[in-house]
Parts: sequence; C-alpha cells; structure tokens
Amino acid sequence: MTSHLPVLLDECIELLAPRATGVYLDCTYGGGGHTEALLAAAACHVKSLDCDPAAAQRATATAQRFPGRFEFIAQNFRNLDCVPGYFDGVLMDIGVSSYQLDIPERGFSFRFAAPNDMRMNPSRGRSAAEFLEHATRDELVRAVRDYGEEPRWHRVVNAIEAARGTGRLAQTTSFAELVAEAAPPPPGPRGVHPATRTFQGVRIAVNDELEALAEALPKAFSKLNTGGVLAVISFHSLEDRLVKRYMNGVSGRPVDRDDSRNQDERVKNADLLTRKAVQPSEAEQARNPRSRSARLRAVRRLAV
Ligand SMILES: C[S@@+](CC[C@H](N)C(=O)[O-])C[C@H]1O[C@@H](n2cnc3c(N)ncnc32)[C@H](O)[C@@H]1O
Repeated sequence: MTSHLPVLLDECIELLAPRATGVYLDCTYGGGGHTEALLAAAACHVKSLDCDPAAAQRATATAQRFPGRFEFIAQNFRNLDCVPGYFDGVLMDIGVSSYQLDIPERGFSFRFAAPNDMRMNPSRGRSAAEFLEHATRDELVRAVRDYGEEPRWHRVVNAIEAARGTGRLAQTTSFAELVAEAAPPPPGPRGVHPATRTFQGVRIAVNDELEALAEALPKAFSKLNTGGVLAVISFHSLEDRLVKRYMNGVSGRPVDRDDSRNQDERVKNADLLTRKAVQPSEAEQARNPRSRSARLRAVRRLAV
C-alpha cells in the first residue's frame, strides 16, 4: 500500500514549536504527516490546505483522530489569503507526494503506463499530454531546460514538437521513451532514467509550481502572528532560490549577491532561523531516498 513519509519532520516541529492554543496552517496536507505531527505535539489547532481531491479524502481520517482541532480546506495555496485568521506557524512542503507518484492513473511516473496527466488537481487546467501537444516553443523550453534542467533540452523540445499528433505524448511510458530516444543515456553504468528531468520540468510547468510558490510566500508571511514561524521545504533548486531570496528579503538581508541596496534601504520584518538550508540527515536519506533533495528554510515574524 502507498504511503508518504514526511520529510524533515523533527526539524519542522522543532522550528514551528507548536504550543497548546496555538493555531497552525499546513499549506500542503499530502498524506497528513506534518499536520498530524503538529496536532500530536500540542493541543493546538491546525488548518490544512491541499489542491488534490485525493488529499481531501485522506484528511477525513485526521479529522476523526483529532476532533475539533483540525480543518481541511480544498484550496491551492496560491489563494491562501482567502483562509480566515492568523497563524502561529505556517508550513509549506511543496512538490509531489508519494501518493501522487505511486498511483499510476495520476500520470506522474513513467514507471507505469498511464495517461500523461501530472496535475495535482486533475479537474483543473491542462494535463501534461495537452500541455505537450499545445504549448508554445517558449513554454516547452522553459519546462525542459529551466524547470527540468535537462542539458540536452534542445533535442528533447524538437522531439516533442515532432511527435505532436502521433499519440506518443498521450501516455507516460511512450513519452518517456521519446525523451530517452532524443537524449539517450551516456554509455556506462545506468544512472537515473533519461526522462526523469523532463518529467519533473513538465510537472512543474503543468502545475505552475514556481508561480504558485512566488504568490504564496508573501501571503503566508502576512498570515503570521507576531512571533509566528514560516517554514518551507522545497525539492528543486529554483524553488529553494525563491524561498531563500524571499526569506533574506523579509529578514532585512541582501536577497542575493547582486543586491546593491544599502542596509538602511532594507526592512527587517523577521529573524532568519536557518542561515543555511536544513537538509535531511544521512539516516533520513537512507530511510527515505525521496527526501534527498529536500531543503528547509524558516523565518520568525517580528512585531507587526
Ligand atoms: C510533498 S507533499 C506534502 C506531504 C505532507 N507534508 C505529508 O507529510 O504527508 C505535497 C502536497 O502538496 C500539494 N500541493 C502542491 N502544490 C500545491 C498548491 N499549489 N496548493 C495546494 N496544495 C499543493 C500536493 O497535492 C501534495 O499533496
């Protein structure tokens, strides 16, 4: 049976330090691992969002286990400003859950033959197959080169355009074969599948993941009570860069090396709790290889 191991769980609980009477917002319920750990750590209240209808079904079990202390809200976190109230902690554990990766019909994985879908919310927007059939060349390049970080993006994008109308983009496995033919693995020991990067890039594009994160970060911060903590786990270098820049910015630090503003031009609204991103221990990585690329960053809001 599929399950999802929550990533950097102890580290998140330590940073969020839930307390009785506190109110917390988990923007990415997934399998409820972080939500339930917050609820178990203190007699607090938790509201959790997820845009995936399958997460909503799993959340009914959490509601039964923690009656009166948990509420699930079916919503994309880019709209979290519509959630009423303020919070002592907000958590975002972005990316895909093991449920999504391991259930063939969701179309996130080329390990199973299935319709090429990849939508977190299958009732919204274009599926991966529709995206690949109709996206502009610029959109394809952004997905494969920028989000997927595929070094041979040029060949992959050309192959996608050439395959339009043939049916090869419609299924996960036929799409993965097409990518592997366009960018075959180098000779030598087998590494990751040659379609891994492209699948990640297409998934990020289909779900508009970077834009959603960029919109959500200031909204999440504005929902914090004084002393409240925003903690974000990301799995992709572009996401982590967004989080790092945002958290540096609200902490009154240079957002990056090119930030030439004087110190007095910067506004400090938060304390940075993680100078460097927190990464999973070797033990966690061994227990849960999917945690490998996780990076956790956090800030504490100062008096409003
Ligand atoms: C990595 S999983 C979270 C796992 C969870 N922390 C746990 O321990 O079980 C990410 C979840 O976030 C959801 N998600 C991703 N992007 C989202 C968005 N923009 N709005 C709401 N939920 C989103 C996905 O549907 C998925 O269920």
